[in-house]
Amino acid sequence: MTGADEHERSEGDRSAGDERAMTRALELARRGPRGLNPQVGAVLLSPAGEIIAEGWHRGAGTPHAEVDALSKVTGDAAHGATAIVTLEPCNHTGRTGPCAEALIDAGVARVVYAVDDPGALSGGGAERLRSAGIEVTAHVGEADSRALLDSWLTVQRLGRPHVTVKWAQSLDGRAAASDGTSQWITGPAARADVHMRRAEADAVVVGTGTLLADDPALTARRTDGTLYETQPRPVVVGTRAVPQEARVRAHPLPFMQDEGDDLPDLLGRLRELGIQRVFVEGGPTLASAFLRAGLVDEVLVYVAPTLLGGDRLATGDLGVATIGAQRRLRVDATELLGDDLLIVARPALRDGLDTPALRAGTRPPVDPRAGTRPPVDGRSADDGED
Ligand SMILES: NC(=O)c1ccc[n+]([C@@H]2O[C@H](COP(=O)([O-])OP(=O)(O)OC[C@H]3O[C@@H](n4cnc5c(N)ncnc54)[C@H](OP(=O)(O)O)[C@@H]3O)[C@@H](O)[C@H]2O)c1
Repeated sequence: MTGADEHERSEGDRSAGDERAMTRALELARRGPRGLNPQVGAVLLSPAGEIIAEGWHRGAGTPHAEVDALSKVTGDAAHGATAIVTLEPCNHTGRTGPCAEALIDAGVARVVYAVDDPGALSGGGAERLRSAGIEVTAHVGEADSRALLDSWLTVQRLGRPHVTVKWAQSLDGRAAASDGTSQWITGPAARADVHMRRAEADAVVVGTGTLLADDPALTARRTDGTLYETQPRPVVVGTRAVPQEARVRAHPLPFMQDEGDDLPDLLGRLRELGIQRVFVEGGPTLASAFLRAGLVDEVLVYVAPTLLGGDRLATGDLGVATIGAQRRLRVDATELLGDDLLIVARPALRDGLDTPALRAGTRPPVDPRAGTRPPVDGRSADDGED
């Protein structure tokens, strides 16, 4: 074996070790709370590639993952180590000092990270590390870390929460029968999937049309009817009054009502309440308004093998007057749920610079990782009267 072969093999071993450690860092990241701050994990590897410390971020005001990991080693144990982090080490002083400086001071030799920090204030950590002579490798295991940070990244880029619009439709594109009944177009597996996704959202939004037609509870429930531990804040959009007997009034979190005349402003206010993931459950009029305004990051369509005909279409006017203005989507995933097909898609241009969603960005990005997340169960001025 030549020296070159040996070098190649050790490079291969090293990158396989980096990837394994990144998988572990991602597991650690998931331990952190979901909120205005990102979920980040970190692992320190010795020069021989063994894990010497682990850390994760526990929310606003607490040490970042790298610093948490560094706090677990003593003396110069981090000297020559490799830091594996799911998000680029930050370069700014918020409530805690810059992680890039902490890694430099600890004598770390290499830094491997998954996702670039897009923050105007916090970004630039990789550059700072390189300028101190540290070897930096970016984008290792990026897809998985990006998926975990998706809504946080949306808030950083667009200054508003991540918005998913969901609807169930017949194979011929209808969201309800002619009399307005729509429960249930899809089967139990699809409905269970919706409830699971509701539990992962911070807010669930419906228009008054849906509220009055379907009287939804807007809770996230398991198939046995029990509530998931985490519940989305219910938001009703529209001017019509919410009836006293409406089931949403029994939701564990107080509902919020908004007139809906300024959806970007509504999203801005939800963000200020610490809401990062908004799940819009229709109906067709409100879903179309979000789509028309370019405020949608993800579309979930549950397609049932049934035909309804009639004029209750799943979407209304999207502002597409000519085929050149069509809203192309990119399909991220498809899944068969019982007899129904779930299609997960996103605006095709979302990753580009000139996307409808970007143009509709409402507020300047917040200072990443500096915010706090007010309890979602706190009432706001917009709370309903219950
Ligand atoms: N298949 C499905 O997935 C699904 C899901 C939900 C509902 N549905 C069905 O859809 C039907 C209800 O449809 P819908 O379209 O009337 O309900 P909707 O979209 O829930 O409500 C529409 C209402 O929202 C209010 N609104 C507030 N802001 C708005 C804005 N920016 N743009 C437009 N509207 C705004 C308006 O009410 P105000 O006059 O009060 O301001 C408007 O009339 C029912 O038959 C229901 O069963 C189906």
